[in-house]
Amino acid sequence: MAEKATITLGEKSIELPVITGTENEKAIDISKLRGQTGIVTFDEGYKNTGCTVSNITFLDGEQGILRYRGYSIEDLAEKATFTEVSYLLLYGELPTATQLKDFEGQLTQHTLVHENLMKVFEVFPTGSHPMGQLMTLISALSSFYPESLNPNKSPEQLNLTIIRLLAKMPTICAMIQKKGKGHPVLYPQNRFDYVSNFLYMTFGNVTDEYKPDPVVVDAMNKLLILHADHEQNCSTSTVRIVGSSHANLYASIGAGVAALWGPRHGGANQEVLEMLEHIRDIDKGDVKKVVAEAKDKKRLLFGFGHRVYKNFDPRAKIIKVACDNVLAKLGVNDPLLAIAKELEEAALTDPYFVERKLYPNVDFYSGIIYKALGFPTPMFTVLFALGRLPGWISQWKELREKNEDIGRPRQIYNGYTHRPFVSIKNRK
Ligand code: SDX
Repeated sequence: MAEKATITLGEKSIELPVITGTENEKAIDISKLRGQTGIVTFDEGYKNTGCTVSNITFLDGEQGILRYRGYSIEDLAEKATFTEVSYLLLYGELPTATQLKDFEGQLTQHTLVHENLMKVFEVFPTGSHPMGQLMTLISALSSFYPESLNPNKSPEQLNLTIIRLLAKMPTICAMIQKKGKGHPVLYPQNRFDYVSNFLYMTFGNVTDEYKPDPVVVDAMNKLLILHADHEQNCSTSTVRIVGSSHANLYASIGAGVAALWGPRHGGANQEVLEMLEHIRDIDKGDVKKVVAEAKDKKRLLFGFGHRVYKNFDPRAKIIKVACDNVLAKLGVNDPLLAIAKELEEAALTDPYFVERKLYPNVDFYSGIIYKALGFPTPMFTVLFALGRLPGWISQWKELREKNEDIGRPRQIYNGYTHRPFVSIKNRK
């Protein structure tokens, strides 16, 4: 017999269905609760609210498990490329060699951006934040592909829009970094794979031939895979809620970029590096003082804590190891890494952090690798967005395919009750 939950409100008891997922996660389906009782549920920040039944990503915050379509993040980060993982997230299965060749071929065909998009890009002042530029440029793509504005047109049209966005994202991200440096923008080169092309457009120069360093390509693939999806986080929920109004893909993803920018979410990777530099330069490396100030709520330790992970973030473990390897291979000796490790050690042995289950998250060590690879700090969250793109799109695609209802939460109103209008001459 199907499991039910019973809710008693005063004299009345009602039964609600219980939904069970493939990993035995359970949820009480309250969608009919208001209809039957007039009462809504309340959950500020959605700490305890499931908003969809999804087949894409599973995470268990207590055990530190993360899987895309059933494959562990450890295996994917070690054995797959970012385009393979993108295919997996989007279409549900790892691609065969032929499917991957075809997918990568499609991506290669759509890497150029319209020259008029360059004009939009040119008007940004030097020094404008890369995330603001990214948000605008992605949204602006909708103007160049008016046939994509209706996401219900045809599955073929939808897939073309998805391919276009995935293909143009590295070009746009690289353009933004070039602008920050005042260097000429490079056009994509079809001889490169997805990640190498991004690195070429970012670090190559019109004056020299560019040969991607396999260490850098490998590190970049790993980092992008680790960021590729994370079920219903703030930016993905934003993408889904915008998509639920049947807004086009570019608008929905532009909104996701906006949500990611915040320092409590993806923007934390920039904050972490700036915090470590502050500890080095202003706090003179006094990690104990920093931890004490965090406990006194005078400052936040960026890169620590997570809404869902209450044991460890498996991505942070992988990035920490990668950080040691990449810096050693590139011959970089960054004192910030030593400060980061000291901070982690100090925090993890302190009861304040232990009791609150605050561990390093994905953003804690990633910035140190990005810095070693040569990315300027304000670009870090753009790199998160580049990695997260296939996840956002897959979640948006799933929502569209299921034709989910429009997202529209309820509230508890706590303002004035009805009061008479006061004419302007009588107001005090
Ligand atoms: C990402 O959700 C996802 O999946 C996101 C993400 C993804 O892949 O999409 O994993 C990416 O966004 C990672 C998180 C990046 N953000 C940061 O590193 C910023 C610092 N972290 C925090 O602001 C915070 O931990 C959050 C926002 C990540 C989680 O917030 P919660 O779940 O709402 O927890 P909380 O803020 O209510 O904190 C609980 C307690 C509080 O103390 P008390 O009031 O109980 O005394 O822990 C304290 C907080 O003050 N606390 C911290 C802290 N984080 C929480 N204290 C010091 N330093 C911190 N970083």
